[in-house]
Amino acid sequence: MKGGYEHYMQKEIHEQPESILQTMRGRVKFSRVVPKEGEAWDPYTERRIKLGGLAEYIPTIRRGRRLMFVACGTSYHACLACRQTMEEIAEMPVSLELASDLLDRRAPIFRDDMCVFVSQSGETADTMQALQYAKDKGALCIGVTNTVGSAIARSTHCGVHINAGCEIGVASTKAYTSQQVAITMMALALCEDSIRLRAQRDAIIDSLGTLPDKIRAVLKLDSKMLELAEQLKGEQSLLVFGRGYNYATALEAALKVKEVALMHSEGILAGEMKHGPLALVDEHLPIIVVATRDRMRGKMLSVLQQLRARGAQLIVLCNKGDSDIQDLCGKSCRLIQVPEVVECLQPIINIVPLQLLSYHLTVLRGFNVDQPRNLAKSVTVS
Ligand code: M6R
Repeated sequence: MKGGYEHYMQKEIHEQPESILQTMRGRVKFSRVVPKEGEAWDPYTERRIKLGGLAEYIPTIRRGRRLMFVACGTSYHACLACRQTMEEIAEMPVSLELASDLLDRRAPIFRDDMCVFVSQSGETADTMQALQYAKDKGALCIGVTNTVGSAIARSTHCGVHINAGCEIGVASTKAYTSQQVAITMMALALCEDSIRLRAQRDAIIDSLGTLPDKIRAVLKLDSKMLELAEQLKGEQSLLVFGRGYNYATALEAALKVKEVALMHSEGILAGEMKHGPLALVDEHLPIIVVATRDRMRGKMLSVLQQLRARGAQLIVLCNKGDSDIQDLCGKSCRLIQVPEVVECLQPIINIVPLQLLSYHLTVLRGFNVDQPRNLAKSVTVS
């Protein structure tokens, strides 16, 4: 059942090249269609996204006033990781809601809102109740789930199955990366007619095609992450800094560490560093900084400089061959080097070594990997 792995979480982390491929299978047309002799190029027969469960709703969604993503835990982080992509390429206002908070506030939802409910299990009580609330307000409800026939899949008007395969470990891993792929595909489907966004859209589709191999390459960091876990296993706390697309990576990595390794960990938006968290920084506290190349580059280099100036124990997640980071952070800084993809997909790559780290930390600290104390895989009571 565990296919030679010790734990389901470990198996599911290693399955990600295939689970991501399954999410895209039959939905992404990567290659250009070469026209027959004498035929003209038809731009719309080139790279394409086809989401069967959503296709007929695309025009309605485009006419909506805003997209509201509703989820809990890791599924919420997947929405956060994709928010900027959705804003930029679907060109719609996007709001994010933690399902419990939406319900606590009885937040306003309107008939022309397009509400997207993201849930691995499709059974989470808060997300399900928020769905009922949005339906009562007359909004279009879209499901993004991993479980065919689940309550959320059945109760939404339309949706996308992420097809990541059964996830057994309580800590969500492969569903997180597949959720991001599914939401990105949704954004791409929404901008299919835009000529202006064509180049950006094509670059994202091409990069989607490279994800499985790049994740395979990242999984080779396993022994390095075990080594890092050995160094960190006795720590009380671990901070994770990120910004832009990778704020979600910081939150998700911290959630994984606290959830399974039972170590205090906090994901911090690097832009908020000076508004409080900097006070915690000293030579004793390990800090992971997600600093892969993207348009936040200059700002992240400055964050690193400031953390270094305060003697922080830095672990930097950066792209392979990024010599600027090594020069800036010095020899004592530990680097996790990952392959580069387009910036909006980089969080999918970046989380993988951090999933491995939390897995190894858990095993080394002697805790139950697949059944962390007090937690259930699917939270069906709110
Ligand atoms: O099944 P769902 O995606 O709706 O579950 C939401 C959260 O309960 C879930 O993601 C939880 O945060 C995970 N155990 C985190 O690894």
